Amino acid sequence: MYVCICNAVTESAIREAAAEGVCSMAELERRTGCSGSCGCCAEMAAQVLHETLVQCAPPHVLLTAAA
Ligand code: FES
Repeated sequence: MYVCICNAVTESAIREAAAEGVCSMAELERRTGCSGSCGCCAEMAAQVLHETLVQCAPPHVLLTAAA
């Protein structure tokens, strides 16, 4: 599914970027162009990025982040 129509960035591309170490919207934009044009996709892209980071993070990272 396309998340960013302007730059043809898919949900799977965002998940791949997160799995490869992208952990912020600024990094995601630099890498994929996502949200760099009209910005309409920013909220959805951030949600996909966040979901993926939470799923991929080792448990000790989540505990540290919550503290
Ligand atoms: S839909 Fe992503 S920048 Fe326009």
